[in-house]
Amino acid sequence: MDNIGQKVLEVNNLTVTINGNTLLEHIFLEIYEGETLMLFGENGSGKTSLLMTIMGLGPYKIETGSIFFKGKEVTHLPPSERAKMGIGIMFQRPPTIRGLKVREILELIGHNSTDPEELAESLNFGSFLDRDLNLGFSGGEIKRAELLQLLAQKPDLALLDEPESGVDLVSISLVGEAIRKLLEKDVHHRRRKKAGLIISHSGHILDYVEADRGCVLVNKTIWCMGNPHEIIQGIRKQGYKGCLTCQK
Ligand SMILES: Nc1ncnc2c1ncn2[C@@H]1O[C@H](COP(=O)(O)OP(=O)(O)O)[C@@H](O)[C@H]1O
Ligand SMILES: [Mg+2]
Repeated sequence: MDNIGQKVLEVNNLTVTINGNTLLEHIFLEIYEGETLMLFGENGSGKTSLLMTIMGLGPYKIETGSIFFKGKEVTHLPPSERAKMGIGIMFQRPPTIRGLKVREILELIGHNSTDPEELAESLNFGSFLDRDLNLGFSGGEIKRAELLQLLAQKPDLALLDEPESGVDLVSISLVGEAIRKLLEKDVHHRRRKKAGLIISHSGHILDYVEADRGCVLVNKTIWCMGNPHEIIQGIRKQGYKGCLTCQK
């Protein structure tokens, strides 16, 4: 796609450690307005750590590098500030919060300007509004609850951590629909403003949400930047090890 919009996210030479072990090294990433970038990588490669670092969460230590959001440096800002500026995250494994109803968190996030009933309807989730957040939820229900919160927040950059993992076939089309809506996929791409960074291990989400570019996290850094369908086809044939010898 033509990069006509402003740069939403810029990650510059980011190196991240935990307890002295390097998790991510020399990471460079750019995402523009209206663009969706897929991040592939095998389990344990550091995908979640990268997303959490962009959101400012977790015990990670930034050794070098910087993160810019809509032209402003956010490298050391608290996650609440980043959320207010327009970054949202869908967790791979969100916590269970006893005593907090789904309805209440949607009202808090949406500042009472969104109607939880209407929102939940779109994800066939109305009957969960008065349940404690994530308590006893199935894999697919957790993902739908996460997406509802993002739909209430309406972030300019949505960070989605493995939205399809652990989701049954019925829920995956609902999850896919919600992501399409979140990332304004049904708006003409020239007028699309929302940006997304989607982590995927399997690439199945590409059947529901088209992405503009893809990249792979291998050996702690970004190895490839290109067509997401070609990248996942290569990974399905050669495995992630193939990325190390790939000449592209
Ligand atoms: N809080 C933590 N403490 C210690 N090690 C961690 C922590 N979080 C992640 N790691 C380690 O960092 C590596 C990358 O993990 P992660 O970012 O979750 O990978 P992915 O999401 O690609 O599966 C793993 O080896 C994991 O065990
Ligand atoms: Mg992960």
